[in-house]
Amino acid sequence: MVRFVDVGNINRWAAETGVERILTDMVEYIERDFRRWPTFDKAPRVASHSPLGVIELMPTSDGVTYGFKYVNGHPSNPSRGLQTVTAFGVLADVQSGYPTFWSEMTVLTAFRTAATSAMVARALARPDSQTMAMIGTGTQSEFQALAFRGLLGINRLRVWDTDPDAIAKFVRNLAPLGFEIVVAASATDAVTGADIITTCTADKANATVLTDAMVGPGVHINAIGGDCPGKTELDGAILHRSDVFVEFTAQTRIEGEIQQMHPEFPVTEMWQVLLGQASGRTSVDQITVFDSVGFAIEDFSALRFLQDAVDQTRFYTDIDLVADPDDPKDLFGLVTAGAPVLV
Ligand SMILES: NC(=O)c1ccc[n+]([C@@H]2O[C@H](COP(=O)([O-])OP(=O)(O)OC[C@H]3O[C@@H](n4cnc5c(N)ncnc54)[C@H](O)[C@@H]3O)[C@@H](O)[C@H]2O)c1
Repeated sequence: MVRFVDVGNINRWAAETGVERILTDMVEYIERDFRRWPTFDKAPRVASHSPLGVIELMPTSDGVTYGFKYVNGHPSNPSRGLQTVTAFGVLADVQSGYPTFWSEMTVLTAFRTAATSAMVARALARPDSQTMAMIGTGTQSEFQALAFRGLLGINRLRVWDTDPDAIAKFVRNLAPLGFEIVVAASATDAVTGADIITTCTADKANATVLTDAMVGPGVHINAIGGDCPGKTELDGAILHRSDVFVEFTAQTRIEGEIQQMHPEFPVTEMWQVLLGQASGRTSVDQITVFDSVGFAIEDFSALRFLQDAVDQTRFYTDIDLVADPDDPKDLFGLVTAGAPVLV
């Protein structure tokens, strides 16, 4: 039997556990896996592009457990009543190759993206950071805010989105949770005085959500929306003034903000910073950029976190996913067992 977490169960589990607690607990799993980064199989994800979006497969393995995620990114989906990003994922036993765990990952992706962003910001942002600007208040945004509060204590938000309804939704969801939220008049207004800037917009274009003039010294930029070829958020000039940190360089060169730069543009992989093998922030004036695209190991960590969290609970069901005849060579017998006998 394969354990399966469907949408209803992940929602009930999240409601009972609390989103902020899930995010902070999940960081431990993600950070532990970043700290053993060299032990994983790694490759840029396999992307199938179309004019409206992308469908991707994201596999990895630590030699004991294999995992993959199916995920799409379709920025125009909300205009048709659909979500920009949806996903599901699987864990499997490397010894037998049998799948062991299957979960919805639309919600889980929002958790893992926010947990990763906050983990990275804890390592790179100025320790005295108090205010975060958020450009883009769509699906990912509340999760990002809660993760930054859980890990960095950020309670002051300055928000902007081109869609006023998305801002209203954000305020409606987060103001009751005790955030101090300023609705800005523009992106430029939002970043004024911010210590951290999160960009989580969706547009299948080389957008300039942040211009060079909008970014002052000492800021940490958490850029999560530029995650596909031809889809970026930052003015390239910002990257020239910054130190840029990535998940897996080979994938980020294809998908991240640095797709705008020369192939040799210097970047640092975050696992090296977390292990103390590379420098993170070295001065208060330095601009740090997390050029996030989302990497398979984060999904692997999130799936393993969820698998452990729902163990011994009512938040999963067993499903009969793998045809497994008593005689492993008699699959035919399995499909003919219930057939009428011909005379
Ligand atoms: N890096 C990662 O690991 C990761 C993970 C998940 C999603 N993403 C990406 O993050 C982005 C946001 O995802 P989502 O699920 O929240 O999408 P969404 O469509 O729900 O929200 C995006 C928001 O951005 C706003 N927007 C678009 N252009 C803007 C602009 N120029 N200025 C201000 N606001 C603007 C839209 O109005 C919308 O409210 C997407 O691009 C998605 O692909 C990245």
